[in-house]
Amino acid sequence: MRQDKICAGATNLNRRAKSDIRFTCLCEYAPVWRMIMTENEIYEKLMNCLACIRKKTDFMPKVALVLGSGLGNYGEKIRLETAIPYQEIEGFPVSTVAGHKGQFLFGYVGAVPVVCMQGRVHYYEGYDISDVVLPIRLMKLMGAKILFLTNASGGLQDGMAAGDFMLIRDHISCFAPNPLIGKNIDELGERFPDMTEVYDHELARLIRKNASSRGILLKEGVYAQLTGPSFESPAEIMMLKQLGVDAVGMSTVVEAIAAKHMGMRICGISCICNLAAGISKHPLSHEEVQAAGKAAAPLFETLVSACVEDFV
Ligand code: HPA
Repeated sequence: MRQDKICAGATNLNRRAKSDIRFTCLCEYAPVWRMIMTENEIYEKLMNCLACIRKKTDFMPKVALVLGSGLGNYGEKIRLETAIPYQEIEGFPVSTVAGHKGQFLFGYVGAVPVVCMQGRVHYYEGYDISDVVLPIRLMKLMGAKILFLTNASGGLQDGMAAGDFMLIRDHISCFAPNPLIGKNIDELGERFPDMTEVYDHELARLIRKNASSRGILLKEGVYAQLTGPSFESPAEIMMLKQLGVDAVGMSTVVEAIAAKHMGMRICGISCICNLAAGISKHPLSHEEVQAAGKAAAPLFETLVSACVEDFV
């Protein structure tokens, strides 16, 4: 049963009894209660998803890869062992976004066993934040100790252009809900995880090295996650720029927080698919983002593969 469903009017009392109601708001016609999973339910769901995957494969990845908008074809670079569509995993949130295929790929990049998310789950799709990070937690429980995050983003940094890559050095999370809110799940990590060094210095060094040896221009900076799905307004972009943001998107940060909570080593590359609103001379569109991701894909694939092989 989807716990994060929004129930309007005659709320199902059985479900209310089972779940916490932590967020209440009024809509035009009726009270709306948003059902948020309790920590036990989150953990139970995670374990059920893991059991479901383990019935299909015993593959043990070392690196987990998340592919952003338009970058999903990287999957073809993997020497594939098994693919598991998200719909086949009971309870798993299924991505609804064009350009996100929606499956786990298990296989090898060189000799490195990887699990790759071909399509991620976004908060703006209406999922509970715990569902958004469920796949990350799952990949850690499958065995992956390293998380390689990629995304499509809008560029704010002076001199940035569509098609640039940006190594994520740090992030700003305060515009998206923190995925660790609620009673701590002690089985996953500690109550107050440190976020001083979310993005692993050694992995960043290897990414820089591989970019440089292949002549790939790699910018660096701070990534901020906003909820979307609307793109930002020019005023919001001006605010973010003053806060020190270099790239903005609708993903990644909550995943990094959940992964850090579980002790993963994390790195991330953002593909700048457009200049952010107000910096860009024209209105933004998802099609533009996808097209820029596709155009950057060959170079991106080269860089990701080289890095993954170097990580382990
Ligand atoms: N803003 C937010 N998310 C994005 C953007 C953007 O400009 N480009 C790609 N994803």
